[in-house]
Formats: sequence, structure tokens, C-alpha cells
Amino acid sequence: MSTEVLHVDAIWPDPGALQRASTILREGGLVAFPTETVYGLGGNALNPEAVLKIFIAKGRPPVNPVIVHIARAEDARPLVQSWPRAAELLAERFWPGPLTLVLVKSNRVPDLVTAGGPTVALRVPSHPVALALLEFCELPLAAPSANRSSALSPTRGDHVLRTLEGRFDLLLDAGATPGGLESTVIDLTTSPPRLLRPGPIAAADVEAALGSPIARPDLFAAKAGGPLPAPGLLARHYAPSTPLELAPGTGRDRVLELSRRGCRAGWITRGQEAGVPPGIVQRTLPDDPVSYAAQLYAILHELDEENLERIIVACPPASEAWLAIIDRLRRASVP
Ligand code: TXA
Ligand code: MG
Repeated sequence: MSTEVLHVDAIWPDPGALQRASTILREGGLVAFPTETVYGLGGNALNPEAVLKIFIAKGRPPVNPVIVHIARAEDARPLVQSWPRAAELLAERFWPGPLTLVLVKSNRVPDLVTAGGPTVALRVPSHPVALALLEFCELPLAAPSANRSSALSPTRGDHVLRTLEGRFDLLLDAGATPGGLESTVIDLTTSPPRLLRPGPIAAADVEAALGSPIARPDLFAAKAGGPLPAPGLLARHYAPSTPLELAPGTGRDRVLELSRRGCRAGWITRGQEAGVPPGIVQRTLPDDPVSYAAQLYAILHELDEENLERIIVACPPASEAWLAIIDRLRRASVP
């Protein structure tokens, strides 16, 4: 299969390109498209054959369910058994946007979408291209991140092609995605609701919208610079192919040690670090979590192409604002 690429404006996508994408989706094909978080690999969520193609293209284990993207909150109703008040409150407050809600699925949702489970994950993305595509094709779109399974999520069209070229029909390339980290996932089938994946929307903001606390895993069990939770407890995910290591402080001590051993390593810091040791390829990310998140995956993709032996990342501060970033870096650092 050869993958067609259409470049579209990120705000006003060309209707011809949307038409082409819709035709492919209606015929059961796959289209990669930008969302405000990362690029997704989309197929008709109501067509099990299209969804199967997504799993095959990604090499995704069928035990891992996919998120269904819809154009508006009303489109959730036919896909779920009930629409609880918590869903109404969160959809009202955060959709369109980077929040995914897990609800009890209806019979219309194929089992493959939910990995055979009783729940479905839904979100209304806010990227104009994603929204326009959903409006145009009038289908719910199953769309996991557009990368081979367990690899780094794509924040640019070329990242998508890097691992999936020739494995899907069409890429709508609208340049870099603004957010850079995958959506926050909240399970609304438990009481209280549960944070399944930290993301751009903070758990505290979800709690404020609900007016009650949610259950969240203690990701700060290990303090900054302290030992990380047992790696075995974390699924390796969101990872570059180069081994990644979180280092305490600026990471300078670790990088110096590697340099002395003649190791070629990448070094990701927050803010400028003077004096880069020999053999070390340094990249600087901004010291605020929103800009850091927007650029992180692009920097990891870039360092991944440098044939380095390791990538050392200065451990971000243990504060709520950095939670999603710490989560992704920890998962990436699982060997
Ligand atoms: O920002 C995002 O969420 C991006 C864009 C494309 O929307 N999508 C994304 O999809 O990150 P994916 O498949 O890479 O990650 C989906 C996450 C996985 O951790 C999956 O296990 C979880 O959502 N998930 C999907 N359906 C679920 C369900 N029914 N119950 C619990 N978790 C679910
Ligand atoms: Mg993914």
C-alpha cells in the first residue's frame, strides 16, 4: 500500500482534502490526522474491519482498547449505555479538548474497539482539522496515536510516516500539533471516577468541574531525584528506540560519567546548561510544562535519529503541573 500525503492548513483545511479523507474512511480505509494532542490513526469505529486494520498497521496487541473520536457530545449517546451527570459536567467543561471519558459501551460499538471489554473511551478533539474531518465524514473515528505500538507518539506528519508509511491510506499533514502529550483519560464507570492517564487537563481541574474528588494513582510516590517505582509496575510505552534514563537534578553528573566512559549520549535539560561534555548531544527544553510538553516528543524523535547509546533526561519537578510529563518519561524509561 502506498500512503498518500495531503498538506492542509491547520485552521482552514481544504474541503477537497476532507472529502478525499471521508471517502477513504467510508470505504473502510485508514486516515492519519492531527489532533490538539498528537496525530491519530483513524478508521470508522463502527466497522470492525476498519478497526482491525488499525491494530494491524500499529502492531497493537488486541488487548489494548482504542479511543473513539466524535464531533460533539451528543454523538456519544448512541455509543454508550448511559450518560451520567459526571459525563455531562466534564463534556460541558472540557469538550472539545484533550479529555477522554471511559463509559459503559452500547451494543453499537464493536468489541475490537474496546478490546472485548464493557467500556468505551470517547473524546471530542479540538483541533480544527480533526473536528472538520469528523463533521465531514459523519462517522465516529477510532483513533489511537499514529505510531507503531509502544513507540513514541507523533506530533508531526513526518513522525507518522517514520513508523507507519505504507501501512495506511492517507495522511492529513497540518504541521506540528499544539499540545504534544496524549489526552487525560478518566474512567467514569467507577465510583469515585478514576484518573487512568494524566494529561493536558489536570486532575484538579476535573475535580473542580465535578465538585468532588477522583481516585488517582500516586505518581509522586518517588520524590524528585529519588528512586523510581519498580519499573516492572509500569508498561513500557511512549518510548524512543534509544534507551532513555531519567536523571536527578540537571542530569550533569550522569552525563559526565557517560562521557568519561566514551559513551555517546543525548542530554535533555530544562533551560540552558553551560559546558557540554564530549560525546554528548544536548537539547534544551523550556522550563514551563506547557511548552515543554509541546516540544518533548519532537526532541525525542530527533535524538532517536542520532544513533545514540542513551538519552538522559533531567528529571522534571515533582509538581502537579509536570505530572503528565513525568508519567510519559517514566514509561519511556522502562527497559
Ligand atoms: O490524545 C490522545 O488521546 C490521542 C489522540 C489521537 O486522540 N490518542 C491516544 O490513543 O493517545 P492511544 O490509543 O495511543 O491511547 C489510548 C489510551 C490507552 O492507554 C488505552 O489503554 C486507553 O486510552 N483506553 C482506551 N479505551 C479504553 C477503555 N475502554 N478503558 C480504559 N482505557 C482505555
Ligand atoms: Mg499511543
